[in-house]
Amino acid sequence: MPPIIAPSVLAADFANLQTEVEMLNRSQADWLHIDIMDGRFVPNISFGLPVQAAIYKHAKKPLDVHLMIVEPQLYIEQFKAAGAEIITVHEEACTHLHRVVQQIKNTGAKAGVALNPHTPVAVLEDIIADIDLVCVMSVNPGFGGQKFIENTYRKIEKLKDLILQQNSKALIEIDGGVNQQNAAALISKGADVLVAGNFVFSAEDPIQTIANLKNIGS
Ligand code: DX5
Ligand code: ZN
Repeated sequence: MPPIIAPSVLAADFANLQTEVEMLNRSQADWLHIDIMDGRFVPNISFGLPVQAAIYKHAKKPLDVHLMIVEPQLYIEQFKAAGAEIITVHEEACTHLHRVVQQIKNTGAKAGVALNPHTPVAVLEDIIADIDLVCVMSVNPGFGGQKFIENTYRKIEKLKDLILQQNSKALIEIDGGVNQQNAAALISKGADVLVAGNFVFSAEDPIQTIANLKNIGS
């Protein structure tokens, strides 16, 4: 199975978002990864609902929305209304994660849970069967263009075991520092979805770069 490729719009040219989204429409990208940062859960502010809605207007592919915000339960319905097909919340931001996952599913969106680099896979033991995606952070969230954390490989192995044990349908998404060098190894360990920001948007030919990621290992 080829990986699902989800370029992160965080690395796009914000002054030319429509052009960037149209480029992704023409490419082999499967999803558009939308990074929402609030300056509280992470030490950076990216963009919010109106910008997501503007992206949605032009996007021909599902929006994979990664909420790096505190109290995400206050905004789930609004992100769904602004076009989210997958809504991912951070485990570290949710005291009542089970409730938030049900809240996401009740909107009709798919539910994802993201884990910071220090958060062990084991915290998902009692929720893995209910979720559609696990986003394994391979950098500390907050910024694009950071260096990939090597411990991610070990985490993917543990997560894959947990998913198989519990017969979960959750996809494994890797987010941060993904490039042509680590993509094949990530896929061979069990990654289903690769997010790539800087690697795609700083390339001379983003469409070709997306195609290269998509066709890795085939
Ligand atoms: C990091 C974001 C990532 C980021 C990935 O906080 O969640 O999605 O945009 O960017 P790169 O691929 O440049 O590390
Ligand atoms: Zn992200």
